[in-house]
Amino acid sequence: QQGVGILALDIYFPPTCVHQDALEAFDGASKGKYTIGLGQDCMAFCTEQEDVISMSLTVVSSLLEKFGIDPKQIGRLEVGSETVIDKSKSIKTWLMRIFEESGNTDIEGVDSTNACYGGTAALFNCVNWVESSSWDGRYGLVVCTDSAVYAEGPARPTGGAAAIAMLIGPNAPIAFESKLRGTHMAHVYDFYKPNLASEYPVVDGKLSQTCYLMALDSCYKRFCNKFEKFEGKQFSIVDADYFVFHSPYNKLVQKSFARLFFNDFLRNASSVDEEASGKLEAFRSLTGDESYQSRDLEKASQQVAKQLYDEKVQPSTLLPKQVGNMYTASLYAAFASVLSNKKVSLGGKRVVMFSYGSGLSSTMFSFRLQEGQHPFSLSKIADVLDVSNKLASRHVLTPAEFVENMKLMEHRYGGKDFVTSQDRSLLLPGTYYLTEVDSMYRRFYAKI
Ligand code: ACO
Repeated sequence: QQGVGILALDIYFPPTCVHQDALEAFDGASKGKYTIGLGQDCMAFCTEQEDVISMSLTVVSSLLEKFGIDPKQIGRLEVGSETVIDKSKSIKTWLMRIFEESGNTDIEGVDSTNACYGGTAALFNCVNWVESSSWDGRYGLVVCTDSAVYAEGPARPTGGAAAIAMLIGPNAPIAFESKLRGTHMAHVYDFYKPNLASEYPVVDGKLSQTCYLMALDSCYKRFCNKFEKFEGKQFSIVDADYFVFHSPYNKLVQKSFARLFFNDFLRNASSVDEEASGKLEAFRSLTGDESYQSRDLEKASQQVAKQLYDEKVQPSTLLPKQVGNMYTASLYAAFASVLSNKKVSLGGKRVVMFSYGSGLSSTMFSFRLQEGQHPFSLSKIADVLDVSNKLASRHVLTPAEFVENMKLMEHRYGGKDFVTSQDRSLLLPGTYYLTEVDSMYRRFYAKI
């Protein structure tokens, strides 16, 4: 198959959020810590009526409806998530209710899990299926759905929640450059969820930042090698129009792009001019480990990369800054931000993507964009995403309400025999919501 990739895309995030500047004051953190220090504006969260299953039901039904896709046309459905609601029953099986209604139960695929990387694993599975000899001509569908919540403490402001759905097929406006993939996988304890009685992860924050940057370096090197092998010339950051990163919080994205710039400098790539080289020369002899710890290098490389950051990265930062870390959906929400910000000017552009999941697994890969044809066009996707309206119609709750909600969710996690609030006034039409968990732990959802 030619040009296999993403034909259509939609995003859903909860209509409930808290402002980071208010949270910062409420938590007694110093002013600017969450907004400038972490680079975040706002954080979305699920109330007791929403969870990863309801969000995925909402986004899948919205995508099918808005792009006019008959549910019978889906032949593979893959879900990426790290939010465990059931240790056996996949989220995919809950989504089957949408397809069963139309008589389609012939759909391969289940869930993929490894921290924030599960969505990328699900996406690769679908793309590989369409490219394989077992493809039956129907579409693949990928869903990334997560609710990122942390215990009280420094990680709490790096939460968020969202679900993304992506329709996969040939001749896509967002086509994979299949040969260009660089992967790095290793065993580390940087962020993990060993306590099955709690929704919260155990996090070694500093280690997770270093692991992320080491994985980035390694993937970038492999990606560059592949490019050089297949294209016969050196790759540098000027060869891509946009760089999209998994975005736990914006500051790490700023550091990541600066790190790519530093890599280009070490490789003597043409993207780095003489003036920038001069500023980075002092750091050439640092060992790998030293380079991850050097504050001076961080500052110098961010400064010399600033102009390229504004051009190539900034357009991807809108949703991650406004919604927070969406775990598996984070990378694809950042990509959706580019589509929605740049709308008409994307034909022919190359986008490099970096996916990172703690534990750890990571891949750098790339897309080539073309406008495409209705209904699978970039402009239609930007219309359907409707990012500005979705952001503008949210309800801002106070930090106290947010904390109260977190306490209720802690209490409810893994629980049974409860019904959720009858007041659905915060939810928009078309939203699925949790109504009840019965004495057998069975979950029930309805749609507004
Ligand atoms: N004004 C401006 N900046 C400030 C202020 C202030 N008042 N106070 C602090 N800062 C800056 C710090 O200098 C630091 O910036 P720097 O990294 O450029 O030095 C930044 O704010 C963060 O402050 P720290 O004290 O370094 O870190 P903190 O203890 O707040 O923890 C962390 C931050 C580690 C990101 C924590 O939120 C966390 O553990 N999050 C979850 C883990 C995570 O997201 N890891 C990323 C990859 S893994 C994944 O995706 C889950």
